[in-house]
Amino acid sequence: PKLAVQLANEKNIVRRKLTGYVGFANLPNQWHRKSVRKGFNFNVMVVGESGLGKSTLVNTLFNTSLYPPKERKPPSLDISKTVSIQSISADIEENGVRLRLTVVDTPGFGDFINNDESWDPIVKNIEQRFDAYLDAENKINRMNIVDNRIHAVVFFIQPTGHSLKPLDVEVMRKLHTKVNLIPVIAKSDTLTDDEIIAFKQRILADINHHKIKIFEGPRYELDDDETIAENQEIMNKVPFAVVGSNSLVKAPNGGMVRGRSYPWGVIDVDNEEHCDFVKLRQMLIRTHMEELKENTNNALYENYRSEKLHSMGVLQDSSVFKEVNPAVKQEEERSLHEAKLAKMEMEMKMVFQQKVAEKESKLRQSEEELYARHREMKEQLDRQRAELEEKKTRVEQGRPIEEKGKRKGFSLR
Ligand code: GTP
Repeated sequence: PKLAVQLANEKNIVRRKLTGYVGFANLPNQWHRKSVRKGFNFNVMVVGESGLGKSTLVNTLFNTSLYPPKERKPPSLDISKTVSIQSISADIEENGVRLRLTVVDTPGFGDFINNDESWDPIVKNIEQRFDAYLDAENKINRMNIVDNRIHAVVFFIQPTGHSLKPLDVEVMRKLHTKVNLIPVIAKSDTLTDDEIIAFKQRILADINHHKIKIFEGPRYELDDDETIAENQEIMNKVPFAVVGSNSLVKAPNGGMVRGRSYPWGVIDVDNEEHCDFVKLRQMLIRTHMEELKENTNNALYENYRSEKLHSMGVLQDSSVFKEVNPAVKQEEERSLHEAKLAKMEMEMKMVFQQKVAEKESKLRQSEEELYARHREMKEQLDRQRAELEEKKTRVEQGRPIEEKGKRKGFSLR
């Protein structure tokens, strides 16, 4: 309930129908059919230090201005930093497939002298979304659960060219058991190609060293060669070196492109040779959306759920806890209710069997009665026939018919 309130309070929910081509209708057909019926939610959270270009990238990602335009002031006066968790939603429709895309923007961390626990609101928000889903699953009407869980976190790394910052490591470690982490190098236009290659390796080595689990893409066994190759190509780019831009600039060939213009040239964000933005978008919206959702549901959420239930189970013996924990109480009430239902079913079965037995015995009885009557009638008929036979022979032999009762002593002759 707390989350429901909080979600309702999240400001800046913008609902727009996007007209630009996004590309998720090109999904494999089977998945397409599954999703097309109900429409679906996809929730991405952007996390990273302030000013790394999160909002810009989100806008670039969906080829539209999802964010209300920010009033930019000179850096010294710029107080329009994200200070609370905000959701921005957009309805995207392509070829009849409906997608409700929600981007959750988080306050940039790392701005304070003491950054301890600066990730706390982010972790709490992710957990509250799990809790809300768990609550909804425990309700009697489990159809139409709205999935507000975070399916992917795009984690922005500052383009230092060195290694991961201790704060990044700490935040990633807090998040990796709860969400699909997708690391990206922010503002990668500030690094040369060689620096990007080296920085990527450094980041992956750091991630490995600190045993941070990042999203690794789908399991390959089930796919065909072409899909495997496509996945491999995308996953090889992790951490994606991204560049964001909301403005159109003039390319050397005279055309307009979405990019950034510098004295020495133009970076086109949609050109795969300039940055990995296209690959990131492809992964999120086209090729890996279902895996991200499935992994959230089957691994991350399941893990959270079982840990939560386990911790409640351990504490279940304490009657005080039982009193105050609505989830435990609800679970108990449900099993009581189920036991009651089972008992009622048993009783109904017994009554039914008894009624059937009664009816059967009644039927048997009337069958016997019918037989008896039949026998009786037959005997009566046999007797009548015998009498008639006798009368007949007497008439034929010219003998007077012997009246019953007059047989002895009298004769009509
Ligand atoms: P907060 O709102 O404080 O969380 O910041 P943010 O991470 O959302 O960053 P935002 O998108 O507001 O961008 C900050 C500044 O970086 C802006 O001046 C952008 O124009 C600039 N910027 C965004 N993306 C890029 C990029 O890819 N390269 C370069 N060089 N600058 C960028």
